[in-house]
Amino acid sequence: SEVTYLHPDGTSTVQTTGPGESVMEAAVRNGVPGIVGECGGALSCSTCHVYVDEACWQEFGEVGEMEDDMLDGVATDRLPHSRLSCQIRPTAQQRLRVTTPESQY
Ligand code: FES
Repeated sequence: SEVTYLHPDGTSTVQTTGPGESVMEAAVRNGVPGIVGECGGALSCSTCHVYVDEACWQEFGEVGEMEDDMLDGVATDRLPHSRLSCQIRPTAQQRLRVTTPESQY
């Protein structure tokens, strides 16, 4: 999947996720700024928060119960299209745009 990460400073980064790889993992592997992923995807840190583009929001499923709880604790405002990027694993055909928040801490 091709993921475009839009940053608050107006720049963007485009990366490709590997098979089964999450949006957080691809970001960390490639040093994409703005995504930390401190807990490695265990749903215990909230430092992988992103805003999913409204146009593709529905493609990436429901926010899980634990994810929902963790989203309440994100450092930058939770918005209707907030997700934890460790919980998004796009298929090869999917295209995704996410915006990274101002801060993860
Ligand atoms: Fe920690 Fe996503 S990487 S909750």
